[in-house]
Amino acid sequence: MNTLWFCSLIFIHFFFFKCCAPHCRDSPPHVPKEELSTDVVIDVIANMTHTIRQFFPQLPVYPALGNHDYWPQDQLPTSANAIYDAVAKLWSPWLNPEAVATLQKGGFYSLVIKPGLRLVSLNTNLYYSPNQVTVNMTDPAGQFQWLQETLELSRQKLEKVSIFCLLLQGILILERTRSVRESYNERLVKIFRYYSDVVQGQFYGHTHRDSIMVLLDQQGKPVNSIFVTPAVTPIKSLLEPYSNNPGVRAYLYHPENYGLLDIWQFYLNLTEANLEQKSDWKLEYIMTEAFNIDDIQPHNLHELALRFEQPQSKDFDKYFNHFMVSYNFSLTCEGLCKTIQVCAVHFLDQETYSQCIAKAGI
Ligand SMILES: *[C@@H]1O[C@H](CO)[C@@H](O)[C@H](O)[C@H]1NC(C)=O
Ligand SMILES: *[C@@H]1O[C@H](CO)[C@@H](O)[C@H](O)[C@H]1NC(C)=O
Ligand SMILES: *[C@@H]1O[C@H](CO)[C@@H](O)[C@H](O)[C@H]1NC(C)=O
Ligand SMILES: *[C@@H]1O[C@H](CO)[C@@H](O)[C@H](O)[C@H]1NC(C)=O
Repeated sequence: MNTLWFCSLIFIHFFFFKCCAPHCRDSPPHVPKEELSTDVVIDVIANMTHTIRQFFPQLPVYPALGNHDYWPQDQLPTSANAIYDAVAKLWSPWLNPEAVATLQKGGFYSLVIKPGLRLVSLNTNLYYSPNQVTVNMTDPAGQFQWLQETLELSRQKLEKVSIFCLLLQGILILERTRSVRESYNERLVKIFRYYSDVVQGQFYGHTHRDSIMVLLDQQGKPVNSIFVTPAVTPIKSLLEPYSNNPGVRAYLYHPENYGLLDIWQFYLNLTEANLEQKSDWKLEYIMTEAFNIDDIQPHNLHELALRFEQPQSKDFDKYFNHFMVSYNFSLTCEGLCKTIQVCAVHFLDQETYSQCIAKAGI
């Protein structure tokens, strides 16, 4: 549930959660807060940053802060502090001075990464339900206002904007709760509806699982494609049978208009890697081929999600296997499990999501 590393070129998401191998002591692990400190968190982020720069010296990388990239975890503040200071310095080789300045102040930034394509890295940890610092605040760190101004300016300049951050709007499928407090969730949905002509795509992490969402406007028309990228590290709650294989993906986009075309999802079969004591990363799926769609634009994802709703949908079964990064083919998702999955794709705001669940009558 940590730093989302966003690499340009073709977009590759590295999404690290926990120390996965001796050479990648990445963003801080899930351990009791007594075992960490501000210094340890900074060391871990520094190590990860240096490791990525060492292996990909030519690759522009655009990280977003995660809820464990702070100490104590989840409590990311609304103004400058030792950790925002440290990441602003560490990540400055990839950014410009303006981006470094907002990162240092509030943990978010934006910058133009190709002519006409702007990237916005949001600090949605400020909206995270467990964050006690921002309770009752209407606009923590002024990020909503900044986001609206940024999108407004991009609309005027005819830029496309790629949104990425760790915590997502909408429903966390396994927990059946929101990661983002409801009032913040509704505000994000409203902003992204209003600027859907500007936003090229939205990219999230946090859940470690692979899922999609389609933002609908108030008339029910699909206006934005949203992707949740599975993590390199597996996670499993004691109460659930699901885990995930490690995954890394590339997004393909149109070189001129930046329209999203496809996803190439790669994975490591952990069971096999443990048996054979070696890692052999493979292609898991190509989105357009797996689901027979032309591209990953909102209307095509919407059509796909309608197919998921059909009883005994083979497409939905495949989507559910991808959800766990092909971790366990013997698990199935029916009844309430399937209702939550399909409602979560289309209904990002509380009212329409509740209606969708109620309509299923489960
Ligand atoms: C990151 O930490 C690991 C484990 O302590 C260490 O072996 C490695 O050299 C460090 N890498 C960098 C780039 O600091
Ligand atoms: C937030 O607002 C509620 C309702 O007004 C109040 O009871 C609570 O003490 C406030 N919490 C904080 C941390 O300000
Ligand atoms: C992963 O490896 C195990 C053990 O070899 C195998 O049973 C399973 O089918 C593999 N999973 C996938 C998705 O290929
Ligand atoms: C896959 O799911 C089945 C059924 O719940 C379970 O018995 C099995 O242990 C799971 N396999 C793995 C690798 O978790």
